[in-house]
Amino acid sequence: MSAKSLFNIPYAGINKEGDYNLLIGLTGEYSIVIEINNPVTRYSADPSGYEEYHHLLINIVKILGEGHLLQKHDIISRYAFRAKDAEEYLQRHYNAHFENRECLRVSTYLTITKQVKKGTFYTYDAKGLRDFMQSIGKVLDVLPSGRALDEVAINQLVLQMLSMDFKSGPISLNNLSPTETEVNLGERAVRSISLVNIDSIDLPQEVSTHIELNDKESTRGFPIDFLSFLFKVPGCDAVVYNQVVEIPNQVMTLRKLEQKKKRHAGIPDPANQLCVEDIDLLLTDVARENQLLVNAHFNILICASKGTLPKAANFVESSLFQLGIIPSKNAYNQLELFRTALPGNAGELKVYDWFLTTCDAAMCFFFKESLPKDEPSDFLIRFTDRQGIPVAIDPSDLPMRTGRINSRNRFILGPSGSGKSFLTCSLIENYMLYNMDMVIVDTGHSYSGLCKYYNGKYITYTDKQPITMNPFQITEAEYNIEKKDFLCTLVAVAWKGAEGILSPVERDVIANVISAYYGNFFDNGEKLNFNTFYEFALEKIPEIKREEKILFDFDEFRYVLKKFYQGGEFEAILNNETDRSLFTERFIVFEIDSIKEHKILFPLVTLIIMDVFIQKMRYRSDRRKTLIIEEAWKAIASPLMAGYILYLYKTVRKFWGEAIVVTQELGDIIGNAVVKDSIINNSDTIFLLDQTKFKDNYDQIAALLSINETERRKIFTINQLDNTDQRGRFKEVYIRRGTIGEVYGVEVSLHQYLTYTTEKPEKSAVEKYIDRFGSYAEGLDAFVGDFQMSGKSLPAFITQVNKS
Ligand SMILES: Nc1ncnc2c1ncn2[C@@H]1O[C@H](COP(=O)(O)OP(=O)(O)O)[C@@H](O)[C@H]1O
Ligand SMILES: [Mg+2]
Repeated sequence: MSAKSLFNIPYAGINKEGDYNLLIGLTGEYSIVIEINNPVTRYSADPSGYEEYHHLLINIVKILGEGHLLQKHDIISRYAFRAKDAEEYLQRHYNAHFENRECLRVSTYLTITKQVKKGTFYTYDAKGLRDFMQSIGKVLDVLPSGRALDEVAINQLVLQMLSMDFKSGPISLNNLSPTETEVNLGERAVRSISLVNIDSIDLPQEVSTHIELNDKESTRGFPIDFLSFLFKVPGCDAVVYNQVVEIPNQVMTLRKLEQKKKRHAGIPDPANQLCVEDIDLLLTDVARENQLLVNAHFNILICASKGTLPKAANFVESSLFQLGIIPSKNAYNQLELFRTALPGNAGELKVYDWFLTTCDAAMCFFFKESLPKDEPSDFLIRFTDRQGIPVAIDPSDLPMRTGRINSRNRFILGPSGSGKSFLTCSLIENYMLYNMDMVIVDTGHSYSGLCKYYNGKYITYTDKQPITMNPFQITEAEYNIEKKDFLCTLVAVAWKGAEGILSPVERDVIANVISAYYGNFFDNGEKLNFNTFYEFALEKIPEIKREEKILFDFDEFRYVLKKFYQGGEFEAILNNETDRSLFTERFIVFEIDSIKEHKILFPLVTLIIMDVFIQKMRYRSDRRKTLIIEEAWKAIASPLMAGYILYLYKTVRKFWGEAIVVTQELGDIIGNAVVKDSIINNSDTIFLLDQTKFKDNYDQIAALLSINETERRKIFTINQLDNTDQRGRFKEVYIRRGTIGEVYGVEVSLHQYLTYTTEKPEKSAVEKYIDRFGSYAEGLDAFVGDFQMSGKSLPAFITQVNKS
């Protein structure tokens, strides 16, 4: 027996004449099917999203009015993840890591059916059709992402429903044979669980647009879909949630209700009394809030292999029970329920399948969530969604275009060990796919693995080989007010230290000296460097002092700066030529851990590195570039340099660049006006890692970063959801672009892990392999190969490698 012969398919065909293709039912009712995307992204934390969607749905019902059926299908199906092909070595491993991972997809369809009077012959009603088309136009207006299905797509959907097979690709129809409890489809079966019982209605007293998580302290109050358990049904291929409302003639329905109330009120019986109260409540709602009365029907179809179906069905029933819903136990109408779940066929529902309620209440049962999708952009960075499936977001161009952000600068905050550097590595790896230039200022060797991988330049500060640059060496064309300001700041830092203060007179004097220095030296062709500047200043300053009769501690100036002059302790730093290759190198790491406690060198070196970055930016105007500053930002976040930081951020923006500041030092950012005014206020993207360790200071962080209540809720779910099953090691991160943020996972392949890791033993074991083999890829492949062969845990294998 084929599916066809068991039940004649309830459609007469598809009418393609009008603006939209119509699915025509056997009794003449006609439907349009619209594919939509539920606007509330799962775990978006914002209760108002649910409320808005709720009202949107009510509006649609109002637009349609009497004589219509609104049917919504939310199909949650499982499929195996497939990545697009990747060229690049680490990206290939990334794809392999996720290949075939089971994931969920939500497909949502709204079917709007124009009913015809039962029992009458179908007659062509031109006006009725025109009105219908008009209503559909209005519905589509309020559903900007809605897409009316054409004949091919409608047929595909009907076939998918008949076969309960929602994978893309060819579909084969199986025999449909109903039993007491389900409808069999070959090896699989579908069970319908109707939310209301035929005999009695057991629904919660009050329903809302969504519910709240309540199991863990950290996530309490977090909004989720009323039926969010549908995402978690175990052992099933697909769940179809069929939601239907019928809009009956309001006057007649009200009259019937009144009559029923009178009838019941005459008989003194507690059960009847209850019924009268219910009707009263309903009538009050209708009268007071101008509510529509609707007939509602909800049915959850679970499709699974016959063996696992009972487990899946049990899960659904007990989940419903927890929501206060006792689903129908009478399952004898399985085939009927299956048929009525077909798009446009809800008209076949029997009187006992419906319950009368207000439109508002009915819409509370409608499913409202969707899962995140790749953003529509060609500049995409990959994270995972919260179920562990790769999802790509654009942190730069798209949000700039839509006005969500105004700058590409970013601020990364999390306690030590929370995964900041790891996240940054992942970000960098993605960035490098877009031909980006990368300059990293680090204090702790977090980026040595990546730098090796990209064959970049790794510059470590040591006493023997200090990082040297000659910021004085510029051409006349490069000399401008900003350059002069920079040099002024540089001299001030060298003289006073980062925390020092320059009086207005002192600043003027230095600025004067710089002007005069270039005025003389551009012409006479002498060497431009700190030495010649210092010599010039020693002559010029006394001259200015004499002429202007001002106070200026010349002796101190001469003495303090002498150490940067020829013969001094730091003579190399500001005199040696800048390595020109830095301007063309794509990947540079400046590792300045060894001077991070040094009051003078640390800020000074940071400053000259930033200057190199700015020069590089001008030079490489054809590409994106990023400056990443780990803790070194501390060195520059002083009042003396605030102006320079602002200048840096402004310039970065002009030259298609971005600055990323990474920090764990709460003490340094809270209450630091420079950080707030220059760094945070200019970083439209904020990455927050697990903040549990910062719990006690959370209010201060929230104030500093202007985090509101909704965003706070999202932040507190970082690493708190029950989502580690069948996944590799990962950590979650909250990414706020503009005012709204989302939480994503940072999960990568073992190859990437070994490249990013900051754990010393792991790093050195990997380095051993890389050094032994010709290339990074070969070394890493050999490492992973040996590790897998060893049968050991990763820590044990690493210990073994480090010992050998
Ligand atoms: N997303 C992640 N997936 C797997 N391991 C991670 C992840 N993030 C961090 N780790 C582990 O934690 C260690 C510390 O992370 P790291 O980024 O260095 O922290 P932070 O920079 O915040 O101090 C890493 O070396 C790695 O072993
Ligand atoms: Mg770190």
